[in-house]
Amino acid sequence: MPDDSNDPTSLRKVQHVKIVLEKNVQHTTPTGFDDINFLHYALPEMNFSEINTEVKFLGRKFSLPFFILSMTGGHETVEKINKDIAIACEKKNIVMGVGSQRAMIEKPELTKTFKVKDVAPNVFLCGNIGGYQLTKYSFEKIEKMVSDIEADALCVHLNPLQEIIQPEGDSDWRGVLKAIEKTCSKLGIPIIAKEVGAGINAEVCKELEQAGVAAIDISGTGGTSWAAIEIQRKDAQAGNLYWNWGVPTVTALKEAAVKIPLIASGGVRNGLHVAKAIRLGATLAGAASPFLKAQNTDGSEGVKKEIEKWENELKIAMFLTRSKDLTALKKAKMLTN
Ligand SMILES: Cc1cc2nc3c(=O)[nH]c(=O)nc-3n(C[C@H](O)[C@H](O)[C@H](O)COP(=O)(O)O)c2cc1C
Repeated sequence: MPDDSNDPTSLRKVQHVKIVLEKNVQHTTPTGFDDINFLHYALPEMNFSEINTEVKFLGRKFSLPFFILSMTGGHETVEKINKDIAIACEKKNIVMGVGSQRAMIEKPELTKTFKVKDVAPNVFLCGNIGGYQLTKYSFEKIEKMVSDIEADALCVHLNPLQEIIQPEGDSDWRGVLKAIEKTCSKLGIPIIAKEVGAGINAEVCKELEQAGVAAIDISGTGGTSWAAIEIQRKDAQAGNLYWNWGVPTVTALKEAAVKIPLIASGGVRNGLHVAKAIRLGATLAGAASPFLKAQNTDGSEGVKKEIEKWENELKIAMFLTRSKDLTALKKAKMLTN
C-alpha cells in the first residue's frame, strides 16, 4: 500500500465501494417508474432487429442512451473498476464517468487511478468534482484535473445532504452556483451538473441552465441513498431520518423545464426504466450501483453483459410501443388510468 492509502479522501472512495457492494443502502421509497406504463401494441408492425437506439449527446453520437455514472478512483484498489467500466463503455459506445477527482488534486500521484484512455482511447469520459470544491480550488487546478485524464466533459456533483449529515462535512455552500457559472464560462469542455441521489428540483435546474451547464443529471431518490451510505461509514446520526430525503427521480424528470439535455438517474435499474425515462424527456438514463455490482462479479465482461441486458430490455419496450427509434419512443403512447 502506498502512503496515500490512509489519506481520508482516498480511503473514503474505497469505503463507498465496499458499502454499496456489501450493504443495503438503497432508498426504501420508489423512483416513480412503476407508476407509469406504456400502451401495449399487439401489432408492432416492425422488425425487432431494425430498432435504432442511437442518440446524440454533447455533439457526439452514441449507440445507446446509457451513462455509467461517476463512482470511483483515488485509490489503487479501485483503479481496475474504472478501467473495466471504460473498456465496456468503449465497446458499447456509451458515456462513462469517473468518481470525484478531489483525491488526485490533493495527491497527484493518484491520477493514474482515474485514467482510462490508455485502455479505452475512444470512450467518452466525464471527469468529476464537487460543486463545493469549485469554490475552493483555483480554476487552473480544475483545468489540469480534467486535462490530466483527457476528460471530454466534467460532471459537477451537488451533494449537500451527504455533506451536511457528516460531522466533518462541508457546510458553507454559499457561492457554489457562481463558481459553477465561472467554470462553465472558462473550461473548454461541457459541464454536466449532477446530484448524487437526492434529486434536483425544477427551480435549481433552471438556475443551473442559466449558469451555463450543458446538461443536468437529476439523480433523484429511489436508488442509492447517500444518507444510508454515511450511516454505514461513520456516525451520521441524522442519516436514518434523512435516508429517503429528496426528489423522486420521476418527479424531478417530469418537473424539470429546461432546454438543455437531461439525464435521468437514481434507481434506474433496467432497460424498461431507461425507456420510461426517455419517454419523460431524458436524453440519457444513467446508473451507478448496478454497474459496480456487474464489474465486481465479472470485470469488464460483467459490465458489458449488463449493458447488453439493458439494451435488450429497452428494445423490447420500443418494439411493443411501435418505436423504431428514440425520437419515436419520446412520443410513445402511455396507459391512462
Ligand atoms: C460507489 C459509488 C460511488 C459514487 N461516487 C460518486 C462520486 O464520486 N461523484 C458523484 O458525482 N457521484 C457519485 N456517486 C453517485 C452516482 O453517480 C449516482 O448519482 C447515484 O449513485 C444514483 O445512482 P444509482 O441509484 O444508480 O446508484 C457514487 C455512487 C456509488 C454507487
